[in-house]
This record gives sequence, structure tokens and C-alpha cells, in this order.
Amino acid sequence: MEAKKRDECCPAEKPEGAGIAIEFKFRLECSLKTSADASKATEIVGAYIEEANKTILTKGAPEGQGAKVTAWSVEGDRIKLIIESGRHVRVHDALLRMRKPLAGKLGQEFKIGIRGVEVGSYTIEVPSEKELPPMKIPYVAEMSYAQGILKLVLDVDESAMSNRVPDRILSLMEDKIEQHSYGGKTEHWNVLWQSGKKEHKFTEDPTKAMMEAGWLKRGASRGQWIHGPQSTKMFRTFERIVLEELLGPLGYREMIFPKLVPWEVWQKSGHAKGVYPEIYYVCPPKTRDPEFWEEVIDHYKVTLEVPTSLIKEKIGDPIGGMCYAQCPPFWTYLQGETIPTDEFPVKVFDRSGTSHRYESGGIHGMERVDEFHRIEIVWVGTKEQVIKAANELHDRYMHIFNEILDLEWRKAWVTPWFMAQEGLTGVAKQTEAGTTDYEAFLPYRGEDAEWLEFQNVSVNGNKYPSGFNVKCQSGEELWSGCSGVGLERWASAFFAQKGLDPANWPEEFRKRAGEIPEGIRFL
Ligand code: SER
Ligand code: ZN
Repeated sequence: MEAKKRDECCPAEKPEGAGIAIEFKFRLECSLKTSADASKATEIVGAYIEEANKTILTKGAPEGQGAKVTAWSVEGDRIKLIIESGRHVRVHDALLRMRKPLAGKLGQEFKIGIRGVEVGSYTIEVPSEKELPPMKIPYVAEMSYAQGILKLVLDVDESAMSNRVPDRILSLMEDKIEQHSYGGKTEHWNVLWQSGKKEHKFTEDPTKAMMEAGWLKRGASRGQWIHGPQSTKMFRTFERIVLEELLGPLGYREMIFPKLVPWEVWQKSGHAKGVYPEIYYVCPPKTRDPEFWEEVIDHYKVTLEVPTSLIKEKIGDPIGGMCYAQCPPFWTYLQGETIPTDEFPVKVFDRSGTSHRYESGGIHGMERVDEFHRIEIVWVGTKEQVIKAANELHDRYMHIFNEILDLEWRKAWVTPWFMAQEGLTGVAKQTEAGTTDYEAFLPYRGEDAEWLEFQNVSVNGNKYPSGFNVKCQSGEELWSGCSGVGLERWASAFFAQKGLDPANWPEEFRKRAGEIPEGIRFL
């Protein structure tokens, strides 16, 4: 992710999510199409509207803040309406509420049906301190700004209104206004625990040191590394520590999660709301017929250049992307299932492949990579079980980082990963749910520099069981949690503080790592 702006102040001073009450004005001009001339029903229509204005159009709204039909007329086979409202009973809701009862009256007394709705105009006015930059939003035909009011002209039809498109446009605008008024993304950050200060004999950039020692090399792709035998042994040592000190004792079972993630998974996990700038997209060939590809093959054979524009024409739309957060594709395993109560807490982990993120440009070391290795730990159960499992992990991590790796590190309560990945800021609404980041001091960056996030532990509330429709036999609400152990991040933290010479490593790590294997030599 991009370097974060951090908000170290009190979270209460900041809006949480779309929390600020903004006064909106909705106005809808429309006609109800009738199956026959409805002039003779004018009186009934008028009486109904008068009644509706006092009853169904105000239901659920604070006193005086319901929707209102402010003008109407019957012209041939059209009942023309102007409806105005605030945010409570919105104009499209008002129309939906009126339609059936009105149709009932017209049917009963005049044998006239309502055949549909024609929208003349639909506008939303939103107070906003600032003008928003031009943007393309579906169903928004025009956006203008004058005297502190942002005006949207929607191009919606009956089906878009009954699908609640205007409601989602409204939430989107609230988010955008909030984002623009508060100067963009400020992530929440609040320190929870900090180890003692340590002396560090090593002050170099560990990636450079590892390259010089022949432990690893850059891969051919952006932000990718090839780990030689030495570096690989270190990664495997980290993994073994996690297995022996944490996953084994706590009873986690290994699984293999898919590494190509289709949209349907990210729609359910919420990633479809924000992850686009960082995805490595996956496109399948339009067909696997060799003849279809012959031109590409021949082009390469003759020019020795891969004809990427021609390839673009021959591949389909992206079906999703490569593994990003690691846990979302696991949930398809539980999706739609009801699980026996005594199966909980379900505790699993995956270390079967890489994760991929399109990182910011520039030269980075192993601490910021486009392709990385992570053990992803996932647990599911009742709220109490999930919080307890998170605490057990925190205890085991504390033991590993203090007693085995001897790191200078801290824990901080941060914007939950699932919100950050949806492009949201702030803290989780459910106070017991959220993310704790583990961060390490990097001596080579200096005292005042940012520390490195090297893993996290999160209680994700009911987001995943609810998004993937997973139920407990007892009917109790299910929660889940996850924790990502980033091996590149562990290596960056550990070797930044301890260097590559085993003589300077803590005994507990040295004995687990054993001999550093010989690397491949080059002339
Ligand atoms: N899925 C979590 C994340 O992406 C933990 O790895 O941060
Ligand atoms: Zn996760």
C-alpha cells in the first residue's frame, strides 16, 4: 500500500465512516402511466395524495421530515407527480409506497391499472463545502456546484429506482464529500504496546546486505525477488517457528486456499469496493484454439517481440485477480453452509502460495514487494471464541518476538485491513473488531522514520460469515478473524536489527536456523 498518512490523535475527533448528518434535498418529477384515461379519477387521486402526505409518506421519518407530493395533476393516461423529500423517506421510496395503494383504488373503482413510471427528472441536492472534481458516476447525468450546494441530476428509470440506485449514489456522495473535506485518507493509528528500546549492532539496509552476501536476487518482474538457498532457509525457519510455537500448540489445521480470485469472491469480501489500483488482473484467453493464436505465435517467431496489443485483442475481460489478501478465497469453502456448533472455533491456515500487489513505483527492498509470501491464519466461531483466539495468537506472537527473535517492536490499533482495502478510513464500527498491526524498528532508517508493519492480527466481526452466508447450527452469530504473517516483512525486520552474521543472532533463532547453506557462486 502507499505510505500512509497517520492520524495519531484521538479518534473521537474524527468522523467515523459516513457519520456526519448532511441535509439532502430530493426532487422527483414523474408520471404514473395508466391503462386508460384517468381524468374521471382526479378526485380520488387528489384525496389519496392528501392522505398519503400525512401518513405513508411520513412513516419512519422524524416529525415534519417525511416526503411530500408538492404538485400533481391528472392528464389523460398520466398521473403527474412532483415529490420532494429529505434523507428519511426518499422520493423514490415515497413513489414505491404510494404506487400499490393508489393502483388498488383506481382498479377497484374505475378498473384502471398502473402500467409503469416515466421519470421526468430526479435531482439530489447535497450541501458541500467544496466542489468535487469531475467524475463519472453511473446514472448521474449532470453534476454542478453553486453556493455550497452540489446538485446531481440522475438519469434513473423505474427499475433503477426500485433497485435503490439513488440510495447508493447518496452514500457514495457522502463518502466523497467526507474524503474531500478531511483532506483525503488519514489512517487511524494508536499504539497499544511497545517493547523496550534495544541496541542494534547492525544499521544497514538488510536487502542490500542480503544481495551483497549472495542470498537473493531481483526477479524479472516488478517488485519480485528470487530467494537463494540461504534466504530460503531463513524463510523456512520463520515458518517453522510459527508452526511449532503457534499454529501447532493452538491447534490450527493447514489448508490450501486458491490463489486466483474471481470477482464474485471480492464482491462478497468487499474488495470489489476499492482494491482496483493494486490488483494484478487475470484475463483468460478467448479460446484455446491454436489457430486463433497462430498470428501471435508467428509474430513472435519472426520478430522475437511479444505482440502485446494483439494479445490484448485475444484475451477476455479480467475474471478477477491474483491473490491479494489471501483469506477471502477460503470463504468459498464455507459459503452457504450451516456448520455444527461443536465444530467451532474453526482454526485453519494457508501457506500455499504468493500474494500479489501492484505497489508504488520506485526502488524498494524486500520490505515492499509486488509478490510476497505469507502464512495466512483464519479462525471462525462465536464472538467470544474469535476474540479469545485472537488473544491467544497475540500471546504466542509476544513470545516469538521477545524470546526467539528478540526484536524491538510495537503493536498499534489501526484502520482495519478490510476497511483500508475497501478504501475506507477510521476505525471499525464494532469496537471489539479491528486490526492490530505489528511494527518493527528499522535501525537503517533512523529513529524518526516510519516503523515497518511486519504482520497483523484482526478480529473481523461478522463481515465474512455474513458476506459468505455461513451459519452456526445453534443460530448464534458467527465472527471471524485473520492474521497475516508476512515472511518478507519478518525477514526485513529481523535482519535489519540483527544483520546476517549468526554470531549476532539471538541463540533461540540461531539454533533453529542451523547452518546457513552455501549459495550458488557466480564468476
Ligand atoms: N488478510 C489480511 C490482510 O490482507 C491478513 O493477512 O491484511
Ligand atoms: Zn485475512
